[in-house]
Amino acid sequence: MTNTIKHVTSPLARQTLLDSELTRPVAGVRPIRLLPWLQVVKIGGRAIMDRGAEAILPVVDELRKLLPEHRLLILTGAGVRARHLYSVGLDLGLPVGSLAPLAATEAGQNGHILGALLAPDGVSYIEHPTVANQLAIHLQAARGVVSSGFPPYHHHEFPTSRLPIHRADTGAFLVADALGAAGLTIVEDVDGVYDVDPSGPNGAQAKLIRETTSAELLDAQGTLPIDRALPEVMATARHIERVQIVNGLVPGRITAALRGEHVGTIIHTGARRN
Ligand SMILES: Nc1ncnc2c1ncn2[C@@H]1O[C@H](COP(=O)(O)OP(=O)(O)O)[C@@H](O)[C@H]1O
Ligand SMILES: [Mg+2]
Repeated sequence: MTNTIKHVTSPLARQTLLDSELTRPVAGVRPIRLLPWLQVVKIGGRAIMDRGAEAILPVVDELRKLLPEHRLLILTGAGVRARHLYSVGLDLGLPVGSLAPLAATEAGQNGHILGALLAPDGVSYIEHPTVANQLAIHLQAARGVVSSGFPPYHHHEFPTSRLPIHRADTGAFLVADALGAAGLTIVEDVDGVYDVDPSGPNGAQAKLIRETTSAELLDAQGTLPIDRALPEVMATARHIERVQIVNGLVPGRITAALRGEHVGTIIHTGARRN
């Protein structure tokens, strides 16, 4: 009798995982969508949260009204408090891996603020491990949850620059794509991506780019209203085909974006429908 119990048969068992010719037949298939009905909305720390009640309350009102229509993962970014932490930390020579979790705490604080305001509608703030493992059950109990947009790289943050490169836009995209969400909307205080910063010295001439690609943004010089690392991770996306940047200071824009309307800048990613 042959005892097969001790043999683990796997097409990858005898191979190096570094040879893409060998791994492609097994690892080249498209992953399944875990939460295909999920809409992810990233709320800017500086663009919305730092402005206080004047900007936050209309956004909260809009999110509340969207709950019957969509199941939402609302992710918050960091703003002015993280910038203060960065300057104190850099002055002290702290490495980027120490700055990343410090900044992430502010993204979490902003999330707790939104969670509190949306609590009467059944929305709670949940931590990253809950997003990773129990999002489905939470969204079965409530129409939306809030969490921090920062990815949990913490002390594993890449030492590419002295400031963390993977911030809330990148984190929101990575989680939305990993979950196979229906969409990602990034909420800013400008109508979308412009050719130059509309609040900068040449702002008067700034032109809105209504549609672009992650590849074009990778090549773009100058500043962006999104993380520089975002176009990079967009290029290798598996599910999310487009992301829309909208102005959260204009009532109705988030609602329109979630309904599939073109009301800001649409960025096409590297993901292809099949
Ligand atoms: N090319 C650009 N297009 C649009 N906005 C830009 C651009 N470059 C810089 N910005 C600025 O980015 C600001 C948003 O700042 P940001 O740090 O992204 O906020 P948040 O932390 O809330 O995402 C906008 O108000 C705008 O002035
Ligand atoms: Mg931004």
